Amino acid sequence: MTDVTGARVDVLNTLFRSEQGGHEQVVLCQDRATGLKAVIAIHSTALGPALGGTRFYPYASEEEAVADALNLARGMSYKNAMAGLDHGGGKAVIIGDPELIKTDELLRAYGRFVDSLGGRYVTACDVGTYVADMDVVARESRWVTGRSPANGGAGDSSVLTAYGVFQGMRASAQHLWGAPSLRGRRVGVVGVGKVGHYLVEHLLEDGAEVVITDVREESVRRITAKHPQVTAVADTDALIRTEGLDVYAPCALGGALDDDTVPVLTATVVCGAANNQLAHPGVEKDLADRGILYAPDYVVNAGGVIQVADELHGFDFDRCKAKAAKIFDTTLAIFARAKEDGIPPAAAADRIAEQRMAEARRR
Ligand SMILES: NC(=O)c1ccc[n+]([C@@H]2O[C@H](COP(=O)([O-])OP(=O)(O)OC[C@H]3O[C@@H](n4cnc5c(N)ncnc54)[C@H](O)[C@@H]3O)[C@@H](O)[C@H]2O)c1
Repeated sequence: MTDVTGARVDVLNTLFRSEQGGHEQVVLCQDRATGLKAVIAIHSTALGPALGGTRFYPYASEEEAVADALNLARGMSYKNAMAGLDHGGGKAVIIGDPELIKTDELLRAYGRFVDSLGGRYVTACDVGTYVADMDVVARESRWVTGRSPANGGAGDSSVLTAYGVFQGMRASAQHLWGAPSLRGRRVGVVGVGKVGHYLVEHLLEDGAEVVITDVREESVRRITAKHPQVTAVADTDALIRTEGLDVYAPCALGGALDDDTVPVLTATVVCGAANNQLAHPGVEKDLADRGILYAPDYVVNAGGVIQVADELHGFDFDRCKAKAAKIFDTTLAIFARAKEDGIPPAAAADRIAEQRMAEARRR
């Protein structure tokens, strides 16, 4: 089969022979009674039990689902390593439309598979799964986090995700302009949902001038009604071309930085919450060539995973906030390494994460 770019998707080749592979374990799960078909991919347990969410998505094929699980699990190894967590990377996908097939019985069957791994994989929410779903999965296994406060969980992770992104942005300001502040800077936020709207609050408090856009009018209105000084523009295209924009914060979907957007970006910094912002390999170099400082997405948006990891030990908001505050230092260290090695920050982050995993393996 082929993927969207027309390239051949060969899962076994990816797993056993390619640079993108090397996963420790991949588990195919089936429960015909409930319609469950799932893939649990454990990329690495070098730093500790693999941690990563469960994506519930109507994949076009089983091959595509396995390929996605492998890719996402690998990404979690890097994210967890950079967040300084004692966790490796893993991810699970459940195949199917959650609107149509998600039931408590199916989630419980899935929970039994998670449990069968004895803690090598710890699950949490992702696209298509929510806090309430993790409460159900947790009835079958204790290797579940991201549960509701009523069930001993920490609940919504977007507060700390936004806080972490703000720390990454402060570090970018420090690196580029010599002070860890957004005061007087024009910052554009695309997507003012759960994370984006908290980010706007941090920015206003810090004295930034904020420009926003969102496809949902009510999300925009919620902010402009409370903060009339915030400017709303029609769409992403208008926002990224805003004159005098200092920072662009993609907080909606992945793939925000591509061959169309990078050449017209007016901002000198990109730092946002969205996962997988670079549409394809090479975009990080295009940004660097244009003199745009890119704060790697998986580094600055780690507040959420820091929270779900903390929940496993009994959630403490202040402890978590202190850990998320370290995203400031981590981001600065990445920029320093990028400069030292003459590579874009995204490549520097990968190098640091790989080093941490390799060191842990030697212990
Ligand atoms: N919630 C977390 O803790 C967390 C953690 C890490 C990463 N992320 C990532 O951050 C991003 C935002 O997460 P969230 O939890 O705030 O999601 P959300 O769904 O609450 O918010 C996303 C917002 O983006 C808007 N949007 C979608 N497409 C758009 C477009 N084309 N143009 C403008 N706006 C658009 C939506 O209307 C919505 O308001 C996602 O990419 C998510 O994967 C979130």
